[in-house]
Amino acid sequence: MTQSLTLALETSCDETSAAVVMNGRTILSNIISSQVPTHQKFGGVVPEIASRKHIETVITVVDQALAEAGTTLADVNAIGVTYGPGLVGALLVGVATAKALSFALNKPLIGVNHLEGHIFANFLAHRELEPPFVALVVSGGHTSLVHLKDYNELVLLGQTRDDAAGEAFDKIARVMNFPYPGGPYIDNAAKQGNPSAIAFPRAFSGKAGENKFAFSFSGLKSAVLNHLNSAAQRGETISIPDVAASFQAAVVDVLIMKTIAAAEHAGVNQIVLAGGVAANSSLKTELALAAGKQGLTLFYPPPVLCTDNAAMIACRAHYQYLAGEFADLNLNAVPSLKL
Ligand code: KG4
Ligand code: ZN
Repeated sequence: MTQSLTLALETSCDETSAAVVMNGRTILSNIISSQVPTHQKFGGVVPEIASRKHIETVITVVDQALAEAGTTLADVNAIGVTYGPGLVGALLVGVATAKALSFALNKPLIGVNHLEGHIFANFLAHRELEPPFVALVVSGGHTSLVHLKDYNELVLLGQTRDDAAGEAFDKIARVMNFPYPGGPYIDNAAKQGNPSAIAFPRAFSGKAGENKFAFSFSGLKSAVLNHLNSAAQRGETISIPDVAASFQAAVVDVLIMKTIAAAEHAGVNQIVLAGGVAANSSLKTELALAAGKQGLTLFYPPPVLCTDNAAMIACRAHYQYLAGEFADLNLNAVPSLKL
């Protein structure tokens, strides 16, 4: 097999990342410059600041990715870039940079859907993994179940009707005074808590019909906020670990139930986790148990490939490259790009 090098850029939110991946599966470099400390003092991502930071950092990050991979722009076969979904000003920095590189070097340009990238992170982490499978994509902005029939054949089975799972984690964490992004802090606090302490709602559980593979987390978010407010009003001491564990259990229960049902519906024997919330320890452990009982094999990436990174974008771009799915210089950022 001739060697194919993909250089990819990811700037959809608050990480500026560039990576070089060989033949779609081998990471030669994956440079991630996080803006988290910058946004932390505002309690969330400030879009204007994110775009400005991407502009300041993107070229350095590309240079580092090439240097660490021991390659040059001349040796790269294709350039992949996230063009949505995400923050428009942030996406545009990556898209404009990738278009400039593609034009100047006369190399193919490939526009990548960020959510597909998250799923493909599993191909980097697991050499043996091949389609078909069902993927649960759980990130700060999305909660979706996808049937990946083949590398370039993805079918959306269902998604959230309101908040994303990660968004719920971050909003609850904020009222508990944890830093942004709060998901990992809730994960940690929950380890000390009792997941059955408070019976928070499990939305759409057991629902058939159009909500069979749909999610809703805004009711759960309100229930947790009400619980915290009314306990404070009554002057009761709140056990943060118990609230964290009970909230997390409500999210994880629904995610697991729907993922197992989706695998059965799609007739696959493999499931994969993707997106930032895939780093959640309870989700990984509980889903592994549930999958095992059903004879399903579970795959998930290591934490560094769960959150935003350009290696996953390069992996996705490689399979689009093989399928001849190229973009032209009219490629634009699409903030609400669907799967
Ligand atoms: O995929 P990602 O890096 O960005 C988006 O594309 O949205 O996901 C970030 C999300 C945040 O909401 C963060 O709180 C959540 O992933 N997250 C976690 C954990 N680690 C990251 N949520 C729960 N438990 C974790 N361990
Ligand atoms: Zn993401």
